[in-house]
Amino acid sequence: MCGIVGYIGRRDAIPVVLEGLRSLEYRGYDSAGLAVIYRNKLQVTKTAGRVQDLRDRVGDRARATIGIGHTRWATHGEPTDANAHPHTDSTGRIAIVHNGIIENAEQLRDALTQRGVALASDTDTEALAHMIAAEATDDTSLEDAVRRVLRHVEGTYGLVVLDTRNPAELVVARNGSPIVLGIGASEMFVASDVAALVRYTKQVVYLDDGEVAAVHASDYRVVSLDDSGRRASGGDKVPTTVEAEADDYELGPYEDFMRKEIHEQPEALRRALRGRLDDRFSTARLGGINLDARQLRSIRQVKFLGCGSAYYAGQMGAVLVEELARIPSDAEPASEFRYRNPVVDPDTLYVAVSQSGETLDTLMAVQELRRKGGQVIGAVNVVGSAIGRECGTGVFLHAGPEIAVASTKALTNMAASFAMLALLLGRVRDLSAASGQRMVTGLRALPGQMEAILADEEHIAEIARRFAAAEHMFFIGRVRGWPVAREGAQKLKEISYVHAEAYQAAELKHGPLALINASMPSVVVVPDDDLLSKNVSTIEQIKARGGPVIAVTSAELPPSLADAVIRIPRGEPELDPLLLNVPLQMLAYHIAAKLGRDIDKPRNLAKSVTVE
Ligand code: F6R
Repeated sequence: MCGIVGYIGRRDAIPVVLEGLRSLEYRGYDSAGLAVIYRNKLQVTKTAGRVQDLRDRVGDRARATIGIGHTRWATHGEPTDANAHPHTDSTGRIAIVHNGIIENAEQLRDALTQRGVALASDTDTEALAHMIAAEATDDTSLEDAVRRVLRHVEGTYGLVVLDTRNPAELVVARNGSPIVLGIGASEMFVASDVAALVRYTKQVVYLDDGEVAAVHASDYRVVSLDDSGRRASGGDKVPTTVEAEADDYELGPYEDFMRKEIHEQPEALRRALRGRLDDRFSTARLGGINLDARQLRSIRQVKFLGCGSAYYAGQMGAVLVEELARIPSDAEPASEFRYRNPVVDPDTLYVAVSQSGETLDTLMAVQELRRKGGQVIGAVNVVGSAIGRECGTGVFLHAGPEIAVASTKALTNMAASFAMLALLLGRVRDLSAASGQRMVTGLRALPGQMEAILADEEHIAEIARRFAAAEHMFFIGRVRGWPVAREGAQKLKEISYVHAEAYQAAELKHGPLALINASMPSVVVVPDDDLLSKNVSTIEQIKARGGPVIAVTSAELPPSLADAVIRIPRGEPELDPLLLNVPLQMLAYHIAAKLGRDIDKPRNLAKSVTVE
């Protein structure tokens, strides 16, 4: 994922931009660059290398008070110096950094070439620099020029533009790719992710799609891309305060963010539960969803929508809602929902699930729901993100910044939030106070139980090393264990590149048992519930065909049933999925570590998928 940083104020812009780019390095990139205005001239430095190479190249440049920077992950054109951002127009007056993909780039580039403009790169972005320069004439402001040009642009963008004619202004715009303004004291920051600005300010303004902002050192003005919204939106976007601290983006004693975030789960979970468990009425309090008891009772179905791990967390939520509230519930990938012209039921509560709050498929599903009058709430980690704002109400996950590509602590907090939602829905229906209190107590015990699992890391790592040579693995679960198995397989695939397949336990015998042999280990998820004997018999079926078994369980299993056993503490059975998931994260992590993978940045993957 590309990264954007911009600064305007009294400080030296170069170190601010370089430091911002450094804190976005975790998102992955192949080249970096920056541009500043010094004595009314643009100074651009780029490298098809690391931010440190850029720092070396910039050297001891003279002080500038306005600048933009970028880390690029190549889409149009190879990762070369020429293709790195910022891009400029031919006269060197306009500089632009851009995230996203311009879909009609070929057309725009051809039109420029026909007008005799010489293009210096293979990128989609460069065309914008030339077009803005042509529009930003003496009687047209940069902001107006950017707005005019963007009307001809199809695709997604988060962008920042500099113009030497006006060295006291940055113009930024957003459509489908995040842009956030950081409000300082007589200084302003711009970034594609708050990670780049939390060390300077906690006051931020998130741009919405279709918005353009003119940013000066002591003010900003947000307008909509089309003229009609111009008067309406004005400069009235109120800043919000970010929860994150600069340290959240540092590794500390850990070798990578995934392991750090796995270990942060007990604390993240405590934050998600804080103030939300109600002993007096044995229920949960989720103020953000804004529905009174009567409205909660009128919900006849709950549907969770998310992508990847967020979808699997939604599946865990659906099981919990059916168990505790006894209303039908299911989960569907938002990426399917948005394309299949769904029937939207007014009595269904739709829950849009997303760590980043920026995943395009989930955002589109929410927009489709709102168009059709569906009742949708968000379960989102990043406050101020597009999905959170589009939903308007919902549950914040409070997991803290999740930096590794593989989702761990956010997924845990999603599942915990859904357990609370299920409890709340259950308690306005037929879930007794005693059962409600059992859940309240069970939820409160989870962080401590998770600490016990994390303390067993070396045992899990040893099992991981034993099985790291496997080329394929099955993950088997049923009912409560099924979404856990799916999520376990997903984690292994994405960070270790080992082929993993999740299967419902009872479906094995309808075909996939044929694949079982000594070189196909199965990870079997075994909650201590009334399906225990069924799961034991699944393990026996696999063993009978010579398949090695790793059992992850809260139950006491017959001795030597499995080849390796990972025991988790016994809690309330409905909440077992939250605990069973943690050893699977560690198993995937240690297999990937043994195989020498780049764990935080697996190949071909980005932290949030904001483009089609
Ligand atoms: C897997 C993973 C992805 C995300 C998915 C949705 O570890 O991280 O599958 O869960 O891309 O992302 P969010 O939750 O940001 O919408």
